[in-house]
Amino acid sequence: MCGIVGAVAQRNVVPILIEGLKRLEYRGYDSAGVAVIDKGRCIARTRSVGKVRELEARLDVGLAGGTGIAHTRWATHGRPATENAHPHICRKTVALVHNGIIENHEALRRAQMQLGYEFTSETDTEVIVHEIYRRLAETGDLLQAVRAALGSLRGAYALGVITNQEPDRLVAARRGSPLVIGIGIGEHFIASDVAALLPVTQRFMFLEEGDVADITREAVTIYNAEGEQVERPIKQSEMSADAVARGEYRHYMLKEIHEQPRAIADTLENRIGLHNVYEEAFGHTAAVIFAQIEAVQIVACGTSYHAGLVGRYWLEGLAGLPCAVEVASEFRYRKPRLAPNTLFVTLSQSGETADTLAALAYARQLGLAHTLSICNAPESSLVRASELVLMTQAGPEIGVASTKAFTTQLVALLLLVAVLGRHRGLGPAGEAQLVNLLRSLPTQIEQVLALDAAVQAWVPYFANKQHALFLGRGTQYPVAMEGALKLKEISYIHAEAYPAGELKHGPLALVDSDMPVVAVAPNNELLEKLHSNLQEVRARGGELFVFADGANGIREDAQTHVITVPPTDDLLAPIIYTVLLQLLAYHVAVSKGADIDQPRNLAKSVTVE
Ligand code: M6R
Repeated sequence: MCGIVGAVAQRNVVPILIEGLKRLEYRGYDSAGVAVIDKGRCIARTRSVGKVRELEARLDVGLAGGTGIAHTRWATHGRPATENAHPHICRKTVALVHNGIIENHEALRRAQMQLGYEFTSETDTEVIVHEIYRRLAETGDLLQAVRAALGSLRGAYALGVITNQEPDRLVAARRGSPLVIGIGIGEHFIASDVAALLPVTQRFMFLEEGDVADITREAVTIYNAEGEQVERPIKQSEMSADAVARGEYRHYMLKEIHEQPRAIADTLENRIGLHNVYEEAFGHTAAVIFAQIEAVQIVACGTSYHAGLVGRYWLEGLAGLPCAVEVASEFRYRKPRLAPNTLFVTLSQSGETADTLAALAYARQLGLAHTLSICNAPESSLVRASELVLMTQAGPEIGVASTKAFTTQLVALLLLVAVLGRHRGLGPAGEAQLVNLLRSLPTQIEQVLALDAAVQAWVPYFANKQHALFLGRGTQYPVAMEGALKLKEISYIHAEAYPAGELKHGPLALVDSDMPVVAVAPNNELLEKLHSNLQEVRARGGELFVFADGANGIREDAQTHVITVPPTDDLLAPIIYTVLLQLLAYHVAVSKGADIDQPRNLAKSVTVE
């Protein structure tokens, strides 16, 4: 999604803005731009379609200024084109960057055209800059102009605004899209997330919904939605500037796949004792709340939704609680009937996914009192809006394809199963067994990462294919869904996942030698059933690629390729087998020369509906 960076400083801020944009590249974008107030008190701007490095190559050597804003745009209204890239400027006086969607832009555009404003883009954003200019002409004060203009907008926004009439001032605003303020010494910054500003500061203020910030070199003054001056605490980030470096790895995705043993160990740290899970890890009121819970509703999007689907098997099977799972964009527009003592669980890597945030707000509206967020981004909107929180400690995830966020979400769900199950008869022995298994997980993942070369050897069978089918049963069905999502999003091969028992109800018609069929086959009580389903594929001339527990008797033959996976407990199998599917998607995509970390048309944090 769109990324914003801005700065007011004594020094030239162009290099800070460009570095910030590079650090936001992972969010996904199709064009970029930068504007500063130059020495002659004019707004100087450069924009380009494509990557930030292309913008950098086009920058005028003389482009410099102490106040500036920059943007990466992910097209919503208006195609990816230079004229649609931000910053947008009105009458050489006001420049603005925006993340979000203005719903009433058409009405505003019509009204502004009647007032003689000239439009140079197809974006919804351009109406904001004209609206601010109009108010600035009336008031002569940028802060007042922005506040007045916001009153006429409907929709979501994070904004950074500058004017050559007040060259040392930057005004920022947030409603529905994330924005942080970076606190420097004699200089201040804004950005869509902390990562963009780590080279210049580790101290941050997080704007709340409806906040407007008046930012100069010396001061940051924040007003809430009611217009009252408010204090927002300054927080020290624990992320270092190189926490997001790629290191020895060719892509962030590969680095993040290999970080999983560490990410899982960190997610367990301080959450488990010798034989039990610490309930307080979910918040100091967790014990009281969990004791009342009679059902669970999980809501999430994409990969996080798949984690929720695995979680349902565990919550029902082990914790004995009814559990429903739904994608956020559906839940938020349905009229669900939820029991009053339902725990509403949101799962999200970024904590900024617009649909998930809206679903949480909707759940509150429906009267659900108890909410838990399992999230990887501290200080994200989701974390701040939830009653209970369990942070996955995956560290920054940069690759658009989610990997370590997924496996740490599964670990977090197992911790939840332990504490909820405790109130419903999981028993101390069951909990102790779960804790023991979790403790062995990082080492088990190291072992499957060592199968990398075997996975790579399968690449030629996939690289020229148009389609692939993924099969699993039980908890391995959502794992198959996740494997299919990984393959399609980074290699652009169409991939579908099916519960293996459903094959005969339709998808079997697709099976032939051109359709590789991937199956995940740990050794569990559904193995016999899976065996028969794989037979159905073989009988139709299909070629099978099976990740199998060595003990389960699936043998290599002319139509069957097998990678033998070290034995694992059924409870951990979804996590273990997912790692192999991540590696498969990664290597197939690399062989196709795809843009692994920033696949086309996708964004890392989907902050618009
Ligand atoms: O940040 P979130 O977990 O809320 O994001 C949800 C999805 O947008 C995300 O998982 C997406 O599906 C990934 N690109 C999948 O790899």
